[in-house]
Amino acid sequence: MSANAAGCDLLLPVLSIYALILGDGMSHQHMPGIHTNEDSERFRAGAAKYAAYLNTIEGRLRIDLAFASLQEFLPQASISALDVGCGTGVATVRLAQLGLHVTLLDESLPMLDLAMCAAQEAGVTEKITLKHGNAVEIADFFGASFDVIVCHNILEYVDHPFAVLRGAARTLRNSSSVLSVVVRNQAGEVLKTAIKDGDLAASERNLTAEWAHESLYGGKVRVFTAESLRSMLAAASLEVIAERGVRVLSDYLPATVSQNDEYQKIFELERKLGRRPEFAAIARYTQCLARRAGSSV
Ligand SMILES: C[S@@+](CC[C@H](N)C(=O)[O-])C[C@H]1O[C@@H](n2cnc3c(N)ncnc32)[C@H](O)[C@@H]1O
Repeated sequence: MSANAAGCDLLLPVLSIYALILGDGMSHQHMPGIHTNEDSERFRAGAAKYAAYLNTIEGRLRIDLAFASLQEFLPQASISALDVGCGTGVATVRLAQLGLHVTLLDESLPMLDLAMCAAQEAGVTEKITLKHGNAVEIADFFGASFDVIVCHNILEYVDHPFAVLRGAARTLRNSSSVLSVVVRNQAGEVLKTAIKDGDLAASERNLTAEWAHESLYGGKVRVFTAESLRSMLAAASLEVIAERGVRVLSDYLPATVSQNDEYQKIFELERKLGRRPEFAAIARYTQCLARRAGSSV
């Protein structure tokens, strides 16, 4: 479905209708394959809360840092992209502004609604296509047609992260196509719970925990080690071409640093730190850029 020019306040009902037309055949709540647990509920009821978070310095840095690294690896003459778990569409809008046609996939209609609004505000609605559905079904929804696949901060919330990566690998167009994955880093949780929360017991638990506490919604969130992400990518026939840390120290800066005024300096320092493995290892998020295994590009 290409985005239309409907007003933003009308989009949710419009999207719900389109979701039916697109063959889901049922309302979101009753859709097979789409879970109705707290994981998906937070992104339906709490979509606006997530959008507000992305406007904080922390949210902006995560988005800006991850996108800057993705941009370094965009294949030349990229035509089409898939934003898996697109959320409010921040990466989508940027890719569309670079001239790519972007397909947005999310299981939350309110998120797709916000993404549509963002695309309208940016004047790129003709560059986007919306798909309401579960990311584990990517390969059933699409053929091998994308030059770029963005998979940022969704694997923490899906039941089967490997299934999403395997599906993404199958929908990359060719050997130069690129997948960008961002996940929450276990080591980052260890530092955060000690330094920001002062919770030493939680910090120690986080040394080995596979799930951490999600502070925005209060639920749980899956965490990854760089090794666990790498081996999942390898099992999905994906080869890592670059690894970055996202937000190494900005979470821990003293109040004497105005994060608003110093945003650019913080961003540039974070860019440098994120490229260095010794700092990337303790970042809040790990980003892997990958291509199909065996690609000689
Ligand atoms: C933390 S947000 C990330 C949004 C965006 N990628 C970003 O970087 O800001 C996670 C998104 O993944 C979506 N999501 C979670 N599980 C999903 C699934 N199984 N299938 C499709 N989307 C899913 C949520 O609805 C939400 O929009």
